[in-house]
Amino acid sequence: MTATEICESVETATAGLLIGDSNAMIEVRRQVAQVGPSDASVIVTGPSGSGKEMVARAIHAASSRASGAHISVNCGAIPRDLIESELFGHEKGSFTGAHAQHRGRFEEADGGTLFLDEIGDMPHDMQVKLLRVLEDRRVTRVGGRGAMPVDVRVVSATHRCLDTAIDEQKFREDLFYRLAVFPIELPGLAERREDVPQLVHHFLKAPGAKRTRVLFNSKALDRLAMHDWPGNVRELKNLVERACILHPGETIGAEQVDRLLMRRGKVAAAERAALWAATEPMPTPAPAMIEAEADMPKLSRDKPVALKTMMAEMERKWIEDALALSGGVVAEAARLLTLQRTTLIEKMRKYGIEAA
Ligand SMILES: Nc1ncnc2c1ncn2[C@@H]1O[C@H](COP(=O)(O)OP(=O)(O)OP(=O)(O)O)[C@@H](O)[C@H]1O
Ligand SMILES: [Mg+2]
Repeated sequence: MTATEICESVETATAGLLIGDSNAMIEVRRQVAQVGPSDASVIVTGPSGSGKEMVARAIHAASSRASGAHISVNCGAIPRDLIESELFGHEKGSFTGAHAQHRGRFEEADGGTLFLDEIGDMPHDMQVKLLRVLEDRRVTRVGGRGAMPVDVRVVSATHRCLDTAIDEQKFREDLFYRLAVFPIELPGLAERREDVPQLVHHFLKAPGAKRTRVLFNSKALDRLAMHDWPGNVRELKNLVERACILHPGETIGAEQVDRLLMRRGKVAAAERAALWAATEPMPTPAPAMIEAEADMPKLSRDKPVALKTMMAEMERKWIEDALALSGGVVAEAARLLTLQRTTLIEKMRKYGIEAA
């Protein structure tokens, strides 16, 4: 096969994963097809919800490692003191709580691909260790004596600008160059609005959505293409899911799209309970939920708000309160927060909150 033929066949294999025929998406698919078959480290950058994890999966699918494992690690969701053992494993008794030997993610990904999501959140001391592993291609478990060879292709992703992190010396430049042999930049959905109809069509074909027989007419699609999509493809996917739950059997028009877009973030309590009941295996009955009408500071031109920090603080406080109320029972705290237990556990890890 010629190089062009290889690219074409790989492109066909990944086309089902990465939907969209905008120039930007065609270019992304071309890059995936080019880099996939090599073992080069790839870094995928792009705003939240733009499809970075999908690109990582497409790279794996396009590689000769496709039959091997694709292991995902969210570097921002693992407590600092557990990250080394999570990545490299540990030997029994190597620290308090290490009751058994544990294989790390590198070992699990041996012969396959390791996806390091939110690489920008990797603590500085771990960056040094990661760099060493990438250079030596060998890992040493925490408390282990010898280093084991691992054959892993690393794909990483970040929604942050790592240039700034490098300038501020929060991210090691040498590690960046190791990870970014081949960078792929994913634009936000607002920069490739042409993809909206195809994505809607794709999400409507998902088994759950298909059963609801929902359609979007052309005016609805026009309206969707005009939206700014701060939450990118994820926001669109969620909107389609909401449409399927709220309007089964209907053809969605422009007015319904307007309402679906307006509902973002201020869904009425009853409707939200219905949505939860339809999408999550919730312990019923659904609780009477508190409307999130918190005492919020007013935004003004001379007083910007640190939105991310504020939201994170609020999330942490609610989680801590729920755990206190539930006496540390995670399932009960999850019910109080109308979250899935696994989602709550992930958030607890992110904030380093212990259950008891
Ligand atoms: N081009 C695409 N084709 C089909 N589905 C897509 C595409 N891009 C994104 N999606 C879907 O949108 C959702 C969000 O994508 P993904 O998780 O890959 O985004 P992300 O950039 O990793 O987000 P985050 O920064 O929040 O981790 C997923 O459900 C994914 O399946
Ligand atoms: Mg992601």
